[in-house]
Amino acid sequence: MSSLPTEISARIEAVAGIDPELRPATKPQFGHYQCNVAMRLAKSEGAPPRQIAERLVNDIDLADLCEPLEIAGPGFINIRIRADVLAARTTEILADPRDGVVPAEAPQRVVIDYSAPNVAKQMHVGHLRSTIIGDCFNRVLSATENTVIAQNHIGDWGTQFGMLVEEILEAEVDVLELDLAGADALYKQASAHFKSDEEFATRARARVVKLQAGDEETTRIWKQLIEVSRGGFAEGYRRLDVLLTEDDLAGESTYNDDLPVVARELEESGVAVIDDGALCVFVDGFEAPLIVRKSGGGFGYAATDLAAIRHRVRNLGADRIIYVTDLRQAGHFRQVFAVARMAGYLPEGVRAEHVGFGMVLGPDGKPFKTRDGSAASLASLLDAAEEEAAPEIALAAIKYADLSTGLQKDYVFDPERMAQTTGNTGPYLQYAHARCCQVLRKAAAEELSSDTVTVLTEPAEQQLALLLTRFGEVVAELAENLQPHKLCTYLYEVSEAYSVFYEHCPVLKSEGQVRTSRLGLCLATKQVLARGLSLLGIPAPERM
Ligand code: ARG
Repeated sequence: MSSLPTEISARIEAVAGIDPELRPATKPQFGHYQCNVAMRLAKSEGAPPRQIAERLVNDIDLADLCEPLEIAGPGFINIRIRADVLAARTTEILADPRDGVVPAEAPQRVVIDYSAPNVAKQMHVGHLRSTIIGDCFNRVLSATENTVIAQNHIGDWGTQFGMLVEEILEAEVDVLELDLAGADALYKQASAHFKSDEEFATRARARVVKLQAGDEETTRIWKQLIEVSRGGFAEGYRRLDVLLTEDDLAGESTYNDDLPVVARELEESGVAVIDDGALCVFVDGFEAPLIVRKSGGGFGYAATDLAAIRHRVRNLGADRIIYVTDLRQAGHFRQVFAVARMAGYLPEGVRAEHVGFGMVLGPDGKPFKTRDGSAASLASLLDAAEEEAAPEIALAAIKYADLSTGLQKDYVFDPERMAQTTGNTGPYLQYAHARCCQVLRKAAAEELSSDTVTVLTEPAEQQLALLLTRFGEVVAELAENLQPHKLCTYLYEVSEAYSVFYEHCPVLKSEGQVRTSRLGLCLATKQVLARGLSLLGIPAPERM
């Protein structure tokens, strides 16, 4: 079901021949929407706008949805949606187990690559953003009936394991006694050691070779490091209340056996060539080639990403692949996608998208750091927010701040502002939802049957109902364009409209059909807010 404004636009366009560009009316006496289509046509048709408006109003058939169209001023067309139509649409939401969310017309298999922290390192702000944003995409695409395959591409392979294992053996560390913070500390110790001690560095390099050759002791310690890190990641996900589970783990090492195969395929097809000893793919528009295999024979980050695409299309059956990382990786993914297309790993019908995000800044406007100057860990951010509010509210504060501005923008991590229950914040939306619940608690259960909304005469009622009927379309657009801030803005508008309604239209003090209709509006608002918040990964407590 498309929303009312979309339906109305389509009908006007059918007659006018151009998009009417509906705008919300600036004053209630102008109805709900206005359009200036007659003025725009006047130029091309060389006729007075009012005359064109009259012709349009005559020809456009909207009687089943709107009051008779009105012409105002120089030729504006004012549109007022019939109150009974608004009431019926609101009633539909009440009866809908999906609260107005519409299933995709052509459901897809969507791989979402997000979170992706690195073994033996704490998750930092970048992983926080990736996890929250990817979680929102997962929820939205699942709610619209796509099949979502989350892939947590953790960094579990690479030369860093040489120095890590060497340090562990030398310092006789029992890895399984460590937690993720302990492993992180060990990482720092090992890299300092690597930089200061040439002999250690030589042994670390030899250790990398042993790991690649499958040496038993080295492999055992490597696996233990992964084990310990996984525990730490799972703990972070639990605190963040996100959908990721152990089953979604598909780290870089998953593709180890595929890397030589990818290299061979690319070389045989002529997509890749040897240049200076390295196996490279030259892509138009890129200064440097994409390196598949280094001159020393090792494979890097890009080769792994090619193997991952190949696997996701061939074995996971992806129709769409979404990557959520910080913006600095945009070039990397553009190049990887281009090479994957050249190689046939990414057929034309499969969509690949990189969703890049900006940085989290401290109060000084510089990248957020903890007091000791290191990149802020996920746990420290959550702790800071929980100093301001209870965990459920702290989560709303963090997630909403992350999702409500355009993803590409940097934002300042200011827990005090983010946790406020006024203004455009997550807790404000939670509060609006809790206010709906409070009213509903005071009504009798039998008043809340699903065909309650019958009369909506007040402008505040109509505005709220109008907004509620747009929910499905807002969610569908998010599933397509991956811009969570638009859902945030929408939910904020719903909260604001609810607050205007609540101020102007007594609910519990009214009677008869007015009372039941208003209660129905409260319930529909609660449903839309609760569902909308859940799509953002934000809990919606009933009391605050
Ligand atoms: N582990 C990487 C990092 O921490 C992110 C990996 C993103 N996913 C990918 N397929 N490259 O920056």
